[in-house]
Amino acid sequence: MARVFSGVQPTGNIHLGNYLGALKQFVELQEDNECIYCIVDEHAITVPQDPKELREHILDVAALYLAIGIDPKKSIVFVQSQVSGHAELGWVLCCQSYTGELSRMTQFKDKSKNKESAGTGLFTYPVLMAADILLYDTDIVPVGNDQKQHIELCRDIAQRINNKYKKTFVVPEGRFLKAGARVMALDDPTKKMSKSAENVHSRVSLLDDENKIKKSIMKATTDSEGVIRYDVENKPGVSNLMSIYSALSGMSFEDIEKKYEGCGYGDFKKDLVQITIDALKPIKERYEEIRHSDYLIEVLKDGARRADEIAQKTMARVRENFGLGIK
Ligand code: TYM
Repeated sequence: MARVFSGVQPTGNIHLGNYLGALKQFVELQEDNECIYCIVDEHAITVPQDPKELREHILDVAALYLAIGIDPKKSIVFVQSQVSGHAELGWVLCCQSYTGELSRMTQFKDKSKNKESAGTGLFTYPVLMAADILLYDTDIVPVGNDQKQHIELCRDIAQRINNKYKKTFVVPEGRFLKAGARVMALDDPTKKMSKSAENVHSRVSLLDDENKIKKSIMKATTDSEGVIRYDVENKPGVSNLMSIYSALSGMSFEDIEKKYEGCGYGDFKKDLVQITIDALKPIKERYEEIRHSDYLIEVLKDGARRADEIAQKTMARVRENFGLGIK
């Protein structure tokens, strides 16, 4: 069985991009793999957070994990800061990474743009992410396309250490989907759908009510051609909506094109609204059932215990191979 690891930041507004790019894969993968799914609160504090809200958002993501179908009997679900190995390994990996390669990370460049000073945590964010992955001898990392550069860095660091010291880490592979790997903003299909965009209609959040879903999709930017055709370069808005349609319904782009031949964007969007509502309804219902339950806390405590067992073994190997501490 392959080991799978992935994480989501508890920063609110988990949206269709997160779901279709990453979370949906989490559920599929747990059938045949040993899966570990983390709520990465230590990554969240690389930008300012309100402590009270952060605590709530951690439980929001945990409840969403279970609501979309992650089964704690099959997968480990836990909060990053509950397992000390993440921060510990993060430091060791910092000592094996270069400021040059971290300066080239596009996410860092974007997030630090127009700021007088950027936090060091924001700069070393990808190193902590590498630590998350390497701590569990991970084979596969299901993520959206925006994480490609971070996965490459993680592989580079692992290979660098394996070459320099005794073989210490498994070198992981990213797993990216065809439809959903990069869901774009509904109001501007040249930007990716994001949790932090000011316009709420730029995204559909998993917990949005039916009216909000309808409004956001019906308002989505398209073009004036009036033809449903997948063509990212010339029709980015329509292609984005088709990707969402395809990922939620399982229909291929060709089948969608055939189905809507001769129809306008209105009919297509109305159907997409319904498909989205139908897909999110059971998630929302399950979420409401477990969000404030003792069960959720139990799952996270048990998950942290199981994750820590694996992490301790890796850290013992890291200390041994690096000559840290005493025997
Ligand atoms: P986060 O919380 O920003 O995003 C969670 C997941 O959602 C994917 N994603 C998208 N996929 C498609 N279209 C979009 N518009 C879109 N927006 C976000 C992200 O690619 C991600 O898979 N750095 C990670 C968190 C992390 C992590 C890890 C992931 C920390 N440690 C270790 C994997 C392994 C992140 O950006 O999460």
